[in-house]
Amino acid sequence: QLAAAVVPAAGRGERLGPGAPKALRELGGVPLLVHAVRALARSRAVGLVVVCAPPDGVAEVVGLLDSHGLEGDDVRVVAGGATRQESVRLGLAAIPADIRVVLVHDAARPLVPVEVVDAVAAAVRSGHPAVVPAVPLADTVKRVEPQPAGAPEPVLDTPDRSTLRAVQTPQGFDRAALHEVHLKALTEETSVTDDAGLIEHFGGRVVVVPGHEEAFKVTRPLDLVLAEAVLARRRA
Ligand code: CTP
Ligand code: MG
Repeated sequence: QLAAAVVPAAGRGERLGPGAPKALRELGGVPLLVHAVRALARSRAVGLVVVCAPPDGVAEVVGLLDSHGLEGDDVRVVAGGATRQESVRLGLAAIPADIRVVLVHDAARPLVPVEVVDAVAAAVRSGHPAVVPAVPLADTVKRVEPQPAGAPEPVLDTPDRSTLRAVQTPQGFDRAALHEVHLKALTEETSVTDDAGLIEHFGGRVVVVPGHEEAFKVTRPLDLVLAEAVLARRRA
């Protein structure tokens, strides 16, 4: 039984700076979204990819995927929403009822190795309803009392770094479990920033499996420089 992957790609990419929506910005001459969809489609665990396009860019995204040979029954495009959470919910709604395993993967993580996709899907299949890939942190992390930009921020404490993980995507879920928390979240404002966070918020169990340093998210301009370098190394 194959998994379906939902790809939220409807963000503006404010932190990347002015330009096209982030998912449509290019890496090695190919849109981030195309890299991400290919990375998922390369996995033998994935049978369907649902792309959540910018609401005003559905036709453009369909055309773009088409022009990169990514059209057909195994790729669908839906309109995303105003928040990542809404985009994922709209993507989930487009998945056929008989699919049991759902992966959610940011379009902004174009270089995720197929091994990570496979490992997450396998962990869900083996009975974990919520699985996230993650890596240890390089930096020490401090919790602070936030202040207006530029003002010194008092430190509250320093969590033991060995217990911290930076989480990536694809995150993998039992479809019913993910669907349930997205419905519950409709009537409650949360500060949650990822899908596993929603599961946790409503009392569910989440496990972490090893991620990969190349699954980093393209967020700021420097990330694009790094991604270009990783791609060049792969192509060498
Ligand atoms: N996303 C989405 N719908 C939204 C907002 C975000 O589908 N309304 C997607 C983005 O396209 C991205 C992923 O969620 O693939 C991770 O979000 P992030 O890195 O924050 O992307 P953006 O929201 O586009 O960037 P920024 O926060 O800098 O504006
Ligand atoms: Mg964002």
